[in-house]
Amino acid sequence: MQLTKTLELKNIHKSYGMLNVLKGIDLSAETGQIITIIGSSGSGKSTLLRCINQLEKIDQGEIYFNGKTIISENVNDKSSQFRENIHDLRKRVSMVFQQFNLWSHMTVLQNVIEAPISVLKLKRTDAIERATKELKRVGLSDKINEYPANLSGGQQQRAAIARALAMNPEIILFDEPTSALDPELESEVVTVIQKLASENRTMILVTHDMKLAKDISNYILFMDEGKIVEKGSPDVIFNNTKTVRLKKFLESVSFGNT
Ligand SMILES: Nc1ncnc2c1ncn2[C@@H]1O[C@H](COP(=O)(O)OP(=O)(O)O)[C@@H](O)[C@H]1O
Ligand SMILES: [Mg+2]
Repeated sequence: MQLTKTLELKNIHKSYGMLNVLKGIDLSAETGQIITIIGSSGSGKSTLLRCINQLEKIDQGEIYFNGKTIISENVNDKSSQFRENIHDLRKRVSMVFQQFNLWSHMTVLQNVIEAPISVLKLKRTDAIERATKELKRVGLSDKINEYPANLSGGQQQRAAIARALAMNPEIILFDEPTSALDPELESEVVTVIQKLASENRTMILVTHDMKLAKDISNYILFMDEGKIVEKGSPDVIFNNTKTVRLKKFLESVSFGNT
């Protein structure tokens, strides 16, 4: 039987000028898996997520998605095949950002229906139906017609999650979704993420919340200075820590309060 590898990254390198940010990253995610990336600030976690959906171009390495080569030595980023692959990838991989990134001039509903209409070409009525369902899932049915400025940070982030879900993505990328929130608002977003985890969605999550990482991950990657220094199940990462670097990191971070 063939194992369904949804996403595979091989030997990813990325520099900004002289700064080597990613130094040969491998990552693979199978359908339904939750992969969590931990590591201190500046270690390259956001850059890695941005390379996955090609918000950043990689300098070297290979990316495969659903058995298709997105980029490799044989598919260069000038080819029409690459453009087609990227379009396909972006339709199927949604990202949730640390700072929510909602469009401030649009209501919550408009934020959520925009990409399904413009990218997936859904009819407006279908997009509204889908958005309403996803906003209900994140507990925002009563805020559909509000503007983001009238929502709390936790509500804005839940709207951003509904926006990602409305694309019906195969993978959701979360970049520190709770770190811009006050502790009392953090838990409402954590609850939504835990619910998504229980629905067997494929997720790649960057978080500073070690309790969340421990609770929901199938696999954890610890990044330091652009490399994956340790990887394994939550038990391996938290109870059988091998490197001094990870030990130090774990001593320095919060285990959450929820
Ligand atoms: N667009 C950019 N231009 C130049 N340097 C960047 C850019 N984005 C990130 N960096 C640098 O890359 C390093 C890794 O950043 P980042 O991926 O944001 O780390 P993390 O998310 O782990 O905190 C940092 O030193 C950061 O300053
Ligand atoms: Mg970051």
